[in-house]
Amino acid sequence: MMRLVVLTGAGISVESGLSTFRGPDGLWDGHPIADIASAEGFKANPALVQRFYNRLRRQLDQVAPNPAHEALARLEKTLGIQMHLVTQNIDDLHQRAGSVAVTAMHGDLRKVRHVNTGEVRAWSGDVPESETMWRPHVVWFGERTIGLHSVIEKLSSADMFVAIGTSGTVYPANQFAAVARSAGAVTAQINIDAGGGTFDYAWTGQAATLVPAFVDRVLQQFATSGEPVP
Ligand code: OAD
Repeated sequence: MMRLVVLTGAGISVESGLSTFRGPDGLWDGHPIADIASAEGFKANPALVQRFYNRLRRQLDQVAPNPAHEALARLEKTLGIQMHLVTQNIDDLHQRAGSVAVTAMHGDLRKVRHVNTGEVRAWSGDVPESETMWRPHVVWFGERTIGLHSVIEKLSSADMFVAIGTSGTVYPANQFAAVARSAGAVTAQINIDAGGGTFDYAWTGQAATLVPAFVDRVLQQFATSGEPVP
């Protein structure tokens, strides 16, 4: 059985109207990252952190999945367990597009976590800025990503790995292509710029245009050969 692992980053949500992290208008621009994306930052100024994530959470109500998210959901419907989607995004656009098997390795804006017990709860709307016990269920710098063990397992038996809209600057996702390649997988990147990283194939352009085209190709190949690798 052939297996496909897809990794997505902030670039896949750009055509939905969300910002990426890096670059001149990026979310990290003008913010000392340590203040808003670390446990120490939360302890020092919880109101600042809650405000930052409240703003991001509110944005989710104004945006919708774009054709790239929809295409990946369509792909999963046909490939089933032959495909696994891993996202670094904390938006909920993959889930809203209909993707089911999603590992949200950096957490989920729609959830909060108790700082002491680790209990995770669904959340909608703002978290009060005075809240110090319930933090965003988001992986901050220095913290362990979610579901890594099972992702590495899937990469180790992958036949194809595709990275979409990610700068490849953040560990451990920036190691996934190498893990998949050493398992013998074909690797591909879909991004607005060629960027860093080594891939067998690079598709350069907007995710909302290229991901549907990529998915069509995989599905066509799957229909003729029963294998999801173009
Ligand atoms: P980045 O902001 O680092 O990178 C976004 C990538 O998307 C860049 O390579 C852009 O060139 C590309 N891009 C921009 N617009 C695009 C478009 N329309 N179509 C396709 N590609 C496009 O975001 P990530 O790689 O996702 O972590 O960042 C990884 C992690 O760094 C995030 O999950 C976040 C951050 O620190 C946490 O918050 C834990």
